[in-house]
Amino acid sequence: MRHFLSLKDFTKAEILEMIEIAKEIKAEQKAKRPTPFLQNQSLGMIFEKSSTRTRVSFEVGMYQLGGQALFLSSRDIQLGRGEPMKDTARVISRMVDMIMIRTFSHAKLEEFASFSKVPVINGLSDDYHPVQLMADYMTMLEHGLDASAKVAYVGDGNNMTHSWMMLAAKLGMELRIATPKGYEVNPEIAKLAEGFCKESGGKIIYTNDPKEAIAGADVVTTDVWTSMGQEEEQKQREIAFAGYTVDSAMMKLANPGVKFLHCLPVHRGEEVTEEVFEAHADIIFDEAENRLHAQKGVMVWLDRKRNA
Ligand code: CP
Ligand code: NVA
Repeated sequence: MRHFLSLKDFTKAEILEMIEIAKEIKAEQKAKRPTPFLQNQSLGMIFEKSSTRTRVSFEVGMYQLGGQALFLSSRDIQLGRGEPMKDTARVISRMVDMIMIRTFSHAKLEEFASFSKVPVINGLSDDYHPVQLMADYMTMLEHGLDASAKVAYVGDGNNMTHSWMMLAAKLGMELRIATPKGYEVNPEIAKLAEGFCKESGGKIIYTNDPKEAIAGADVVTTDVWTSMGQEEEQKQREIAFAGYTVDSAMMKLANPGVKFLHCLPVHRGEEVTEEVFEAHADIIFDEAENRLHAQKGVMVWLDRKRNA
């Protein structure tokens, strides 16, 4: 049995296999043919943080696969009143077939998974957001890009950045990361990614200059400056991130036909201007829709592994 906690735990072949499944199921769904690959199965979805996309995509995805999903907000379940993760994992995993969890500490998520009898999927932790990257790479492929594309990430060295690092390191991509001083990526994760890059031929470049990152890029991406759980740092972050707003002048430095991706929700006027965002709205909302499809690929793959 496998969990889906970070792309660091998967090979390139496995990542591409999940995306292949996602593409097949997406085509079936679009052709209005039934896709009952997880018939009669239940997915428990534990949320310790807010969500629009993750909740709707997992819930609808599970329904479309012939199963059902339970929305479990930590505000309502005993976890929010102090019942330990390991007990919650042991109880819920005896009743459902798969668990998705959105939480704070990645170590807690790993602990949860170690106590679970069923596959656990990371729906975002403080360190990683791997299901988002599955949708992002699927979207790149649909828009004619692959691992040979150069990707620039501008902004906070956060869960999205770390996830891009793992994707690049596993698939052998070139990723340029521009963060302000003091908001760089986690050095341990950078070390891990470096190791994977040695095997894959991937290349990750770190800089404090957004222009350097974007010059010659095929994809530009960013994320909010203040992630969930950091709300009290908003003001100081606005100051630290001055000059890191992705605007039209910066985008002109990228390659012709450059694509802009954003995991959403977006803070217009902070990490990206309204103008750049709206100019790339088509691909950004394809990316959002692909959460639904990519996660079906992940869930069906995990189910097949368990039954193999
Ligand atoms: N991108 C993403 O995970 O969105 P939600 O926070 O709305 O789930
Ligand atoms: N970095 C953001 C991503 C939201 C999808 C956060 O953790 O809040």
